[in-house]
Amino acid sequence: MTFKRTLVTTALPYANGPVHIGHLAGVYVPADIYVRYLRLKGENVIHIGGSDEHGVPITIRAQKEGVTPQDIVDRYHGIIKKSFEEFGIDFDIYSRTTSKMHEKTASEFFETLYDKGEFITQTTEQYYDEQTQTFLADRYIVGECPNCHAQGAYGDQCEKCGTSLSPDELINPHSAISGGKLVKRPTKHWYLPLDKHETWLRHWILDGHKEWRQNVYGQCKSWLDLGLKPRAVSRDLDWGIPLPIPDAKGKVLYVWFDAPIGYISNTKELCEQQPEKYGSWETWWKDPETRLIHFIGKDNIVFHCIVFPAMLKADGSYILPDNVPSNEFLNLEGDKISTSRNWAVWLHEYLQDFPGKQDVLRYVLTANAPETKDNDFTWADFQARNNNELVAVYGNFVNRAMVLTHKYFEGKVPPQGELTEVESNLFSEIKAEKQQIEQLLDNFRFRDAQKEAMNIARLGNKYLADMEPWKLAKTDLNRTATILNVSLQIAANLAVVFEPFLPFSSKKLLQILNLNQLHDTKNPHSELDSESQRKSLWNQIGSSNLLKEGHQLAEPTLLFEKITDEQVEQQMNRLKRIKEENQLKAWQPAPLKANTTIEVFDKMDIRVATVKNCEKVKKSNKLLKFVLDDGTGTDRVILSGIQQSYPEPEKLIGKQILFIANFPPRKMMGEESNGMILSAVNNDGKLVLTTVSAPTTNGSQVG
Ligand code: MF3
Ligand code: ZN
Repeated sequence: MTFKRTLVTTALPYANGPVHIGHLAGVYVPADIYVRYLRLKGENVIHIGGSDEHGVPITIRAQKEGVTPQDIVDRYHGIIKKSFEEFGIDFDIYSRTTSKMHEKTASEFFETLYDKGEFITQTTEQYYDEQTQTFLADRYIVGECPNCHAQGAYGDQCEKCGTSLSPDELINPHSAISGGKLVKRPTKHWYLPLDKHETWLRHWILDGHKEWRQNVYGQCKSWLDLGLKPRAVSRDLDWGIPLPIPDAKGKVLYVWFDAPIGYISNTKELCEQQPEKYGSWETWWKDPETRLIHFIGKDNIVFHCIVFPAMLKADGSYILPDNVPSNEFLNLEGDKISTSRNWAVWLHEYLQDFPGKQDVLRYVLTANAPETKDNDFTWADFQARNNNELVAVYGNFVNRAMVLTHKYFEGKVPPQGELTEVESNLFSEIKAEKQQIEQLLDNFRFRDAQKEAMNIARLGNKYLADMEPWKLAKTDLNRTATILNVSLQIAANLAVVFEPFLPFSSKKLLQILNLNQLHDTKNPHSELDSESQRKSLWNQIGSSNLLKEGHQLAEPTLLFEKITDEQVEQQMNRLKRIKEENQLKAWQPAPLKANTTIEVFDKMDIRVATVKNCEKVKKSNKLLKFVLDDGTGTDRVILSGIQQSYPEPEKLIGKQILFIANFPPRKMMGEESNGMILSAVNNDGKLVLTTVSAPTTNGSQVG
């Protein structure tokens, strides 16, 4: 099957928080590489995106902050859109699911299916909060986790132990809104009977799309093998698109019903804005010669491979996705990225710390893309890839070619002269790399493709190292001219090859080479040096004639800069701080011990004493030696393992504390200890001595 055009969509991020490296690595960078690559090849492609602005997490966030859901989505839609722009994600449109166009499109979509009898209805018992008179979404129901017994587990998941739950499993479920008890009430909902779609879905995916990524295919297969059940497409909520039918008061479209329709609404919006350029939206969505590609993360697979296709099929007039390249997850320094725990590198914060270094992050995220399994982002790797690859290979090559040309040829492209076998082999190798990169990109293997692109820079570096033009210049200026001409041609090739991966650097490299803009992404093939070069830039890769003899280059400037150890340390310190904060937040009182009796308590001889002296025990980093006035007239010595919490023990002198007097003497680090000093463990793990609230006679008993 050959296609006339490609429609690329990227998962619509929830507008309830800013975007982080996990979003970029999983969805937006690979999609952007793909779109830029197709544009460079001169293909007809559009990239549709937008914010997902409905759903319960947004209403929860609004409630917490005491603002409206609209306030929340307005804020984060703006932040997210800006981040994508700053990282060069090349959308044709980035709209939102609260747009008028979307509301209309999603309502009509539902109506069509409703009129065709594609839904069934079911009435089920759901939790209802009598105080607020609302049905509660699973997230709004909290209780004790049946697994780890943490309080505050949600009706869909316990955040403490990660178990997924249903509200019925919670111990003592209650409303997160009012705190009150819940009752069950019947409620009617509309369902898409996925079971009726199972047969064609099985055939379409399992027989027809064996080329899909293994993780995607495998997940679909296990869903299908389990058997599909009807899925509710409506919810009892007041934030969302109202069901456009009678008898459905207080009900809105389920967010996972309306959001993917957002791809269609946003295409419509784009085509209405610029009909001459984009044509009719229906061509994009209904013509079988359109290839539809959904870029998503792995938690979205079932919705894009099963539910949304079933919706499209139920309508009957739409094409189905040709591929759904889904990535696994990216972790951060070994831990799962989490918005609620602030365990993330936020894009807007990254740019504050590394201004202008968008491409470094793009490069590292692609080099480590979680294409086949979960992967880890570490700052050490970030630094190493920047310093050892971008700086030492790509940047170094370009810089050497530039500096030498300025040194020997006044910054003008020297004549190419006669090429030897070395050079013709070199250009053949670049052409072979091009083919390989194409094959990889066509199969959504971005990390390998980028590796091959970097290999072209390695070829250039090796060529310069082997030819040593800085030596040759003394004896053979003609040959030196050839070598530098060829090196500059390779640099121009690199600007093209790397454009999908590192668009900002390609632009900079073209400025250094004093070439016109590579391409205006919205208006491909606009200008390079000559007419033929404008046709399809990608096909110029491997050319030895991108720069003409005598062409004046700009002054050399560095393409990439080193990342310092201090910069990495600063990021690690930030993460360390966040970890500590999270520990404080996660603190909970220990569960109660089993019952005791007054007799057991009476056996403890707890007394008050004044600290007469306190010092560190030699050679121990744990123990403090207390000398106490316990009222008997004889000093009492007790050793206590609280040095870490009291690094300045002399400050304890004069304080009154509590101790247990009737423990038998015990030797520790060569010193005898007579009793035990009472202290509590604070939420930060530090020990705190217990004291009395008013001056007390030493030796008084506690009871
Ligand atoms: N908002 C969803 C998420 O972040 C993705 C929605 S994708 C769409 O997981 F298909 F619904 F648009
Ligand atoms: Zn739990």
